[in-house]
Amino acid sequence: MKFLIIQCIFGLLLSLTFLSAQGKENKIIVNADLGKETISKYIYGHFAEHLGHCIYGGFWVGEDSSIPNTRGIRNDVVQALREIKIPVLRWPGGCFADIYHWRDGVGPRDQRPPILNYHWGGVTEDNSFGTHEFMDLCEQLGCEAYIAGNVGSGSVEEMKQWVEYMTSDKPGPMSNLRKQNGRDEPWKVRFLGIGNEVWGCGGNMNADYYADLYSHFATFCRDLGGNKLYRIACGPYGENTKWTETLMKNIKHNLLQGLSIHFYTVAGKDWNNKGSATQFSENNWFETLEYTLKMDDVISKNAKIMDQYDPEKKVGMIVDEWGDWWNVEPGTEPGFLYQQNTLRDALVAAINLNIFNNHCDRVKMANIAQTVNVLQAMVLTQGEKIVLTPSYYVFKMYTVHHDATMLPLHVETATYDYDNKSIPAITASASKDQKERIHLSLTNADPKKTQEIVCSLRGAKISRANGTIITADAMNAFNDFDKAEKVGIVDFNDVSVNGDKIKVKMPPKSIVTLEIY
Ligand code: AHR
Repeated sequence: MKFLIIQCIFGLLLSLTFLSAQGKENKIIVNADLGKETISKYIYGHFAEHLGHCIYGGFWVGEDSSIPNTRGIRNDVVQALREIKIPVLRWPGGCFADIYHWRDGVGPRDQRPPILNYHWGGVTEDNSFGTHEFMDLCEQLGCEAYIAGNVGSGSVEEMKQWVEYMTSDKPGPMSNLRKQNGRDEPWKVRFLGIGNEVWGCGGNMNADYYADLYSHFATFCRDLGGNKLYRIACGPYGENTKWTETLMKNIKHNLLQGLSIHFYTVAGKDWNNKGSATQFSENNWFETLEYTLKMDDVISKNAKIMDQYDPEKKVGMIVDEWGDWWNVEPGTEPGFLYQQNTLRDALVAAINLNIFNNHCDRVKMANIAQTVNVLQAMVLTQGEKIVLTPSYYVFKMYTVHHDATMLPLHVETATYDYDNKSIPAITASASKDQKERIHLSLTNADPKKTQEIVCSLRGAKISRANGTIITADAMNAFNDFDKAEKVGIVDFNDVSVNGDKIKVKMPPKSIVTLEIY
């Protein structure tokens, strides 16, 4: 009897050990035959505000600059962004949008009045970059425009006239003014934001008041000629689902095509000391990745509310500000939000893009903040020099998912443990493109451990897989001016196919995308 009990305990212990070892295995099932939702290319969108050197010095150098440009817009920046197939650009803010009056930025440049940008560094801008220059930028980039309209200090009339100025094909005061300023044909402007962070810098409003104000503005922003507007209301920051609920309940859905969400990765938990972009410990690395994973909850909780009021998912969730936010680089103007960008930021970008891909039934656009020289930028410039950041390379690697069909996944992951805390080591997303190629993107958050992953491709016949990887020796590796590039995309070969299974050996702190045939 005693022997039997000991045997039972031993058996139990054995199976518990086995179970826990099993729980630590990385297994992914890709449901290759269950794809029905499209990963909108707009999820790979960007944001450019009049802030620091994003517009002035970043995109815009003026026609007389010695830096190669086309009608005042930097050629190197345009070329870099074309390579990541930038689909949409949000402009002119952010907080700046609610102090921007579009009429100051049209007409002969030498006659435009200056504006004091008191949100960002208190600098005076000469308004040489306005509506025509922005639309020219979008045309050069081959992307769509997302105009953020001024609700905070603007009027319904002002916004109505801006829409008319940009999109009307009929003779009238606004289209005549546009023609007088050198543009005959109306532009196509699909995305229109009606207010930015109205609960904060955009006017400190409450949700009921803003829901009415939104409806008022949206009523007068109409589709003109062949232009069809996609009007976006200012949604909550993070998990403030009460805000979402008030808007979903109070705004008539014929006036509402999108609802924005803002959520930054501020892992230092203190807005006054967010931590250094480049000098950090493994503790900071862990906390950052742990924090950024909250995006999944932010989306799920808001989506749940949206589902209640919009079960057919007609209103898109637009995550139009996201990304890492660190202390500015030492010696730079605090109001310019200039930060470097390391392998850690690349992991943050890839983890969030995996989250957005997997939520593409509701998330219809996302705009990382902010394209050039500000926050988690794609490119940094210094005079005539340019640097492509680790985050840029993630966007480049993930272009394969643009407008592809999302494939639902089942992920069992090992944990990345640090200091008695743990997060999932692996995140993943997958899609099938129009040529029936499957792409699987994976992140390994653990900076020390290689992860072996077994992927089953359910419902697909496969014979080959190859891949590319982003990684580096150091967690804080970054690309700098005048130095050899440390973080980029290289070929990845640690992958093998056996029947319908793929085995992948992911190095520590890495991002991999596989192409599977
Ligand atoms: O991206 C920087 C600022 O962050 C934006 O202007 C504002 O909308 C947000 O608070």
